[in-house]
Amino acid sequence: MSRAKGHVREALAHDSAVKHVRGTAVYADDIVEPEGALEAYVAMSREAHGRIRRLDVSAVAADPAAAVVLTARDVPGVNDVGPVLPGDPIFADGLVEYAGQSLFAVAARSVAEARRAASKAIVEYETLPAILTIEQALAAKSFLLPTEKLRRGDPDRALAMAPHRLGGRLEIGGQDHFYLEGQVAFAIPGEDGDMLIYSSTQHPSEVQHLAARALGRRDAAITVEVRRMGGGFGGKETQAALFAVIAALAADRTKRPVKLRLDRDDDMIMTGKRHDFVIRYEVGFDADGRILGLKLELAGRCGMSPDLSGPVNDRALFHADNAYFLSDVEVVSHRLKTNTVSNTAFRGFGGPQGMMAIEHVIDEIARHLGRDAYEIRRTNLYGTTTRNVTPYGQTIDDNILPELLDDLAKSADYAGRRRQVEAFNAKSPVLKRGLALTPVKFGISFTNTMLNQAGALVHVYTDGSVHLNHGGTEMGQGLFVKVAQVVASEFGIDLDRVKITATNTGKVPNTSATAASSGSDLNGMAAQTAARAIKKRMAAVAAAALGVAPEALVFADNKIAAGGHALEFGEVAKKAWMARISLSATGYYRGRSSISPMARRRPRCWSTR
Ligand code: HPA
Repeated sequence: MSRAKGHVREALAHDSAVKHVRGTAVYADDIVEPEGALEAYVAMSREAHGRIRRLDVSAVAADPAAAVVLTARDVPGVNDVGPVLPGDPIFADGLVEYAGQSLFAVAARSVAEARRAASKAIVEYETLPAILTIEQALAAKSFLLPTEKLRRGDPDRALAMAPHRLGGRLEIGGQDHFYLEGQVAFAIPGEDGDMLIYSSTQHPSEVQHLAARALGRRDAAITVEVRRMGGGFGGKETQAALFAVIAALAADRTKRPVKLRLDRDDDMIMTGKRHDFVIRYEVGFDADGRILGLKLELAGRCGMSPDLSGPVNDRALFHADNAYFLSDVEVVSHRLKTNTVSNTAFRGFGGPQGMMAIEHVIDEIARHLGRDAYEIRRTNLYGTTTRNVTPYGQTIDDNILPELLDDLAKSADYAGRRRQVEAFNAKSPVLKRGLALTPVKFGISFTNTMLNQAGALVHVYTDGSVHLNHGGTEMGQGLFVKVAQVVASEFGIDLDRVKITATNTGKVPNTSATAASSGSDLNGMAAQTAARAIKKRMAAVAAAALGVAPEALVFADNKIAAGGHALEFGEVAKKAWMARISLSATGYYRGRSSISPMARRRPRCWSTR
């Protein structure tokens, strides 16, 4: 029997694999530019902190190549792309807070001409003292957001009573996302103030809303489309917006399409990175290495604006236990303001930094006791029936880690490898080997419950082909093919009948960022809901045609069948259309609602996220 191809659980190539390899996959920068299109360049602050005494762009505007010059004064709406809280001016207005901050933009026929024109600006600053490092920010009490604290039991007492005690400091560096495709947007003005923006963004709805706010338009006037990104890694969760908005402002002023694609060096200077941290700890433990009391201080460098630093640092706090039960614990989380680029989402979103802190503490305990760190990890694991509640009050009810780690230690021959490492190290004075077996407990989905929602739009055409759209974005991770597999499985048709289409705010509105390890679950479920709605209608048509009950029907192998009779999927679609039955549906999904204690305590309004 032939089976429909490409259903869930089948291991498939990425839907664009061949195009990726051939170089024919279309990214924002590959879109053919219409006649008269312009390219923009953004001029940056050279000062980390300063008052702008003079910003004279008259010579820039007088350059024959410059089609438009935009400063803070040229923003018709709100001069801010802060995604949650304000603080990210589109163009600096009187004050610069990091070296690399956007001052003004120029659009010309080519980016080289725009850059040449921009160099004619006169910028004078009054230099102000700059806070650059975490330690400087701590000393100056330079807090961007209120310090948060998570506490359980009596850590001070537990530390005082513990047979062993250690304290120390750890620095965790940041990284640049280094997506292969840099930040880029292409804005095309339409009639009546409409704007179509092709943006390399993980969050098209946010780009839409921020562009509308900057242009002083309603959200409905702006459409954002993303077919694919050449990598995101969190770097395009919020920070694609600035460039999309500048392109839209320039397109709006000139009434010409405007592309803004950053050079790699400008991209690295202007956009935020992973939050770097300084961690201080005090730990008390027994002779087996069991942690009895722990005090952790997590100091995260946020840079000059809030961006996503609140939830990133929350996540660091929530992951500071990693996989270990801490009976008496205090974790303090400082969110530091520095005159550096605004740090942002980056794979793990603060989680790795929190986990790194406790893993370092465990390594130090092992070193102190002369024990293998794996044993200390095993000793401190969350239990399955007791010692199974996190410091933030969540009961871990599906803890497979003890069993899993025992299995892995055995199948990987951890003990044998350890002996080999030791034998090698004993004979090698300079080159050393290491070995670790480390568990991870990671909280998927957004910490802000309201963001755990998704929408989809599915059409079935009368030839039985399917148009699939949802709010998730493709950044190379394979989300689109996964969601298409869900829809193909639901309809019982071949995957190649399901057309994957670009994310578009005009098709599915008010979406969340594709982030927080939630893209497949949320969008897959929304698409499944839409497909099921159409399937139900098609089942009624097929049941009437075959003279069977709808419940008896099976959607499989590109057919709808019951009792030895079958109709082609496309045939039923045609019949449904002829019977004036809609073959289009939206689907919507929200995750289970559980308000975290942190969220309950903090009724702060998170605007678009
Ligand atoms: N919130 C917002 N954005 C995110 C998160 C989150 O919890 N995780 C990854 N990106």
